[in-house]
Amino acid sequence: MATLTWKGKRPIDENDQVLSSHAAQLYTVETFPGSPLESVVLSGQSPANGWYNRLICGDKSFVLPALLPEFARAVDLIYIDPPFMTGRDFTSGTQLAYSDKWKNDLDVYLQWLYEAFALLHILLAEHGSLYVHLDWRATHYAKIILDEIFGVSPSAEGGGFKSEIIWHYQTGGRSYKTYARKHDTILLYTKTDRYCFHGERIGERRGSQKRNHMRKHVDPDGHITWTIRSAGRLYTYDEDTIMTLSDVWSDISHLHQKDPERNGYATQKPAALLERIILASSEEGDLVLDCFCGSGVTPLVAERLGRRWIASDQSSLAMQVTQKRLLALEQRCPFVLQRSEAYV
Ligand SMILES: C[S@@+](CC[C@H](N)C(=O)[O-])C[C@H]1O[C@@H](n2cnc3c(N)ncnc32)[C@H](O)[C@@H]1O
Repeated sequence: MATLTWKGKRPIDENDQVLSSHAAQLYTVETFPGSPLESVVLSGQSPANGWYNRLICGDKSFVLPALLPEFARAVDLIYIDPPFMTGRDFTSGTQLAYSDKWKNDLDVYLQWLYEAFALLHILLAEHGSLYVHLDWRATHYAKIILDEIFGVSPSAEGGGFKSEIIWHYQTGGRSYKTYARKHDTILLYTKTDRYCFHGERIGERRGSQKRNHMRKHVDPDGHITWTIRSAGRLYTYDEDTIMTLSDVWSDISHLHQKDPERNGYATQKPAALLERIILASSEEGDLVLDCFCGSGVTPLVAERLGRRWIASDQSSLAMQVTQKRLLALEQRCPFVLQRSEAYV
């Protein structure tokens, strides 16, 4: 199998010393009351049983090892939108949200990403899925690293790579030197072939618009069906058939400056993106993790959709914004605000 190397590459596994030396404790700073959703109670994981959603302020290098004793192989869905290695600092007004400069050292960035992927792989449940959101700067490296960690199945039937989703948008400028960059990439990897996927929840109705080379039939009552002959077989689809969504998502726009959903956090992603991912790859009551939660879109949508969540970020601005958004929800489960040892 092809693997990627870089200066200072150091693999880690479950028995690694790095894990125990980094295993910071998590301290609860505050508990926010709420009423557990029915789905969460039914999952057997309500506050009565000791379950609280968790918002954690801390560097992923401390937070992820600290989660291992309790959550190894227990997380159903992970979405991460890490720094993309843009070479920039991101601010909100005059306050620094986070730095994405890496002293311009790709080796350092790749080792950092590698360690995150390895720990997330350990945290993922057998039927779990990992979505990694990046762009042209690092997606190609991430894919090779993820192949190494998740394994490459010769038949494409096992775990490992499942999809490369192109999130296509219209915002951003245009260069006259090359093609305008108008997409991010979201890689989907699963731990095994027994992963949760509900294409029907996010699919689109086939409808009455002509697609491909299909032939249209209109019944006397006006009902439309489509047929196509392929390899000697005739396939017939009703206009109400739900088609699995393709891996190019052009129907969700970036949040423009005046969008009411905007909360001022520089790299905020739209809730619609997370809605799609959470609906497709988890069940109600499942546990969703995001260790780069930024403005809190993952915990917010997980909460709305009746999932349990753990969200963390090293930025205090991210914590403020996420906490504010969660507290503004009319109905929410109780959650705790925690800090990793490095922040005490
Ligand atoms: C692209 S932003 C995430 C944006 C988020 N998805 C949203 O919709 O708001 C990346 C986040 O990673 C966080 N981050 C960067 N380095 C980190 C680290 N070592 N540990 C934890 N979080 C980190 C940053 O503070 C930032 O909030």
